[in-house]
Parts: sequence; structure tokens; C-alpha cells
Amino acid sequence: MTIANSMASTAVAGAVFLIFLATLADGTARAQDDVERGRSLVTKLCGECHAVGRTGASPRAGAPTFRSIDERTDLDELVDRLRAGLQSTHADMPSFRFSREDARAAVAYLRSIQGP
Ligand code: HEC
Repeated sequence: MTIANSMASTAVAGAVFLIFLATLADGTARAQDDVERGRSLVTKLCGECHAVGRTGASPRAGAPTFRSIDERTDLDELVDRLRAGLQSTHADMPSFRFSREDARAAVAYLRSIQGP
């Protein structure tokens, strides 16, 4: 292999690696956007009753804090339940029907704050 050739392939490998890094960063940024969007959704829609952050008690007695919600709710199922309308256990609550993206975002946020 000539020196010029090997420099060229090093440059190509470098470019491929940079594209790979950029793709990774993009995925991470999107996941972060989801978490942020989920946080603002649940703060607005659920914060009247549930503690939505990492600290504090729920404003509504009996409403579980979101940071411990996985103790009683399967978060995988919650995406579908939010899309179907989360009414069953929320008798006195307005029913919510989330789009797929919103349901994913909301659950991404809930996952991000679960206690150890
Ligand atoms: C009007 C008050 C109120 C609002 C608003 C509210 N909740 Fe609740 N939620 C409750 C109460 C009270 C409970 C406990 C009910 C029980 O023990 O069955 C509860 C329980 C839950 C549970 C655990 C039981 C289950 O069904 O898995 C989840 C998950 C939940 N809420 C999600 C949400 C989400 C997500 C929102 C916003 C989109 C929301 N809640 C908005 C009052 C509320």
C-alpha cells in the first residue's frame, strides 16, 4: 500500500467514525427531548394530583408519586394504557388519551425519575 493510499483510507475511516458519533449524539439528543417533553406533559396534566418530580409529596392524598410509580404500575403497559385512555383507576379524573409519541415521551420521563 502506498502512503497516499493509506492516508486516504485513514481519512475515510475517520469520516465514517465521525458520522457514527454524530448519529449516536443525535439519538441521545432525541431521547433527551422525549424526556423533557414528557416532563412538561405530565407536569401540566397530572401535577395537580401526582408529585411529578424527584422530591415532594403528591398534592392529592392517595395519588402515588411518579418517582415510585413503577412499584405499582407496569411502565411498559402504561404506554398503551395512556393511548387507550387512562380511566380505569382514575374514577374522578378527566380521562386522558395520549398520542403514541406523547405516551412514549411521558413514560420516558417516568422511567428517568424512578427511584433505585
Ligand atoms: C384528579 C387527580 C389526578 C390526576 C389529574 C391524575 N391522577 Fe393518576 N391517580 C390519581 C389517584 C387518586 C390515584 C390512585 C388511585 C388508586 O389508588 O387506584 C392515581 C393513580 C395513578 C396511577 C397508578 C395506578 C394505575 O392506574 O396504574 C398511574 C400510573 C397514574 N395515576 C398516572 C397518571 C397520569 C399519567 C396522569 C396524567 C396524565 C394522572 N395520573 C393524573 C389521581 C390523579
